[in-house]
Amino acid sequence: MGRRLHVYEDVESTQIVAQSLVTAGAEEGTLVIAEQQTSGKGRMGRKWYSPRGKGIWMSLVLTPKIPLFYTPQLTLLTAVALCRTLRQLCAIDIGIKWPNDLLIAGKKVSGILLEISGEDERLRHIIAGIGISANLNVQDFPQELRPIASSLLIETSAPVSREAIILAFLKQFEELYEIYHEQGFAPIRLLWEALSVSLHRPIRVQTAGGVTEGIAESIDDSGALTVTTNTGEKIKVFSGEVELR
Ligand code: BTN
Repeated sequence: MGRRLHVYEDVESTQIVAQSLVTAGAEEGTLVIAEQQTSGKGRMGRKWYSPRGKGIWMSLVLTPKIPLFYTPQLTLLTAVALCRTLRQLCAIDIGIKWPNDLLIAGKKVSGILLEISGEDERLRHIIAGIGISANLNVQDFPQELRPIASSLLIETSAPVSREAIILAFLKQFEELYEIYHEQGFAPIRLLWEALSVSLHRPIRVQTAGGVTEGIAESIDDSGALTVTTNTGEKIKVFSGEVELR
């Protein structure tokens, strides 16, 4: 992973650059990194704040031969790889909020966006976009992000080398990806569950279908979150935004 490296100063989004590299025949493990994104993309059509030199904005090209239904498993695998990396390097209590937000003391320091291109399983590419607010000062955040977002520097009071994080993440990802290919999703799911801050807790979840409140119970084989709602119903959430209560 990361042996083909493309580094840019300014891009619209590393996801867009990675997509054009895929179209030009990029192979698995190709990594795109940018100092700044002018139109960083977040989940659910949101923008991702990506100022120059103050975080890690990168996209990794993957070509797993798995059915489309199981691609969310790779979102969870990416979150586990990143969470383990940051825990090791920063010695900090960092956890995963379903599906893939990394939180320190309840605030988001990192997000992951998986985008899929191609219908055919043999030709499909997945672009895993990873954003880490590595060394921002809180004043740097736009007003609306201050209550919910944070950075490694704010939370650890120690500067972290971006290069060290990227290298350690790639190594961690490679190890988990190998386990995933050899043993399937079960061991990844166990690791995800151990790092989760959302399971067995009251949550409010916003989906396309509306807002539901309940207890987050587990994740299933497709990476969906199983919730027992306050009315006792068991539902599965495939895509949505979870708020911890
Ligand atoms: C989220 O909303 O939590 C996901 C954020 C993903 C941001 C990263 S930064 C690198 C890559 N390029 C993008 O435009 N987005 C992802």
